[in-house]
Amino acid sequence: MERQTMARVAIVTGGTRGIGAAICNRLHKQGHTVIANYAGNEEKARAFTQATGIPAIRWDVGDHEACIHNCNDIAAEYGPIDIVINNAGVTRDGVLHKMSFDDWNDVMRINLGGCFNMAKATFPGMRERGWGRIVNIGSINGQAGQYGQVNYAAAKSGIHGFTKALAQEGAKFGVTVNAIAPGYIDTDMVAAVPAPVLEKIVAKIPVGRLGMAEEIARGVAFLTSENGGFMTGSTMSINGGQHMY
Ligand code: CAA
Repeated sequence: MERQTMARVAIVTGGTRGIGAAICNRLHKQGHTVIANYAGNEEKARAFTQATGIPAIRWDVGDHEACIHNCNDIAAEYGPIDIVINNAGVTRDGVLHKMSFDDWNDVMRINLGGCFNMAKATFPGMRERGWGRIVNIGSINGQAGQYGQVNYAAAKSGIHGFTKALAQEGAKFGVTVNAIAPGYIDTDMVAAVPAPVLEKIVAKIPVGRLGMAEEIARGVAFLTSENGGFMTGSTMSINGGQHMY
């Protein structure tokens, strides 16, 4: 049965830049009430809100209490949170023998811990109401590994496992939980990869270019739609053919 889009309240973590901003814009265009979370870049967040009208709220998704408290505040102001996009992520690239414990821990705490914290804050309500959509942004590097990224690859791979486990818990309550595994997308994060290294990576992408943030947002739009109810526990790979999984 074809179902129409209903307006819902959606939170996008790391939502003021890159892939997160594209997801916010797409969900907003679909009529949802969107709230962007961000962690650090005040200036970009202000510019984002000015340009889009989407409110941006600052907290660290790696901080469990901050997730609970901010999600409660958002629900009180805007209504029950039905859609969560766990997009916030950082890199601390380096080969293992040079990687500090902090580089490991920051990435695990924010990228993977953030998914747990946001799910704890929102999944019980979705389960009670009988409808919910969680999309976790994983990575090609969580599927295939990447030189210099034991921390990031482990966290992203963890996100894919987390997704499949929570999907099983949500299925009979109308809550779908899926992951998207982007390849190399034209964002600040990828721009930080040293140019000669990036050139070699792009040379291995069959489609022959970096992806665009909007191409990930389109995947999110489907997974969060009313019509996406039979798709859960999946990983949608959007990577230009770089890794066929
Ligand atoms: N495979 C095998 N060997 C490699 C390699 C690779 N992919 N990349 C580098 N090496 C080798 C180099 O050839 C070099 O070897 P020699 O010493 O024999 O010459 C050695 O490793 C050291 O290389 P670097 O000089 O680059 O070492 P470094 O310590 O200065 O930097 C690094 C290492 C930080 C990992 C750097 O190579 C780097 O930034 N790589 C990119 C990592 C990457 O792809 N990150 C993705 C970020 S974007 C993202 O994560 C989003 C997403 O989801 C896709």
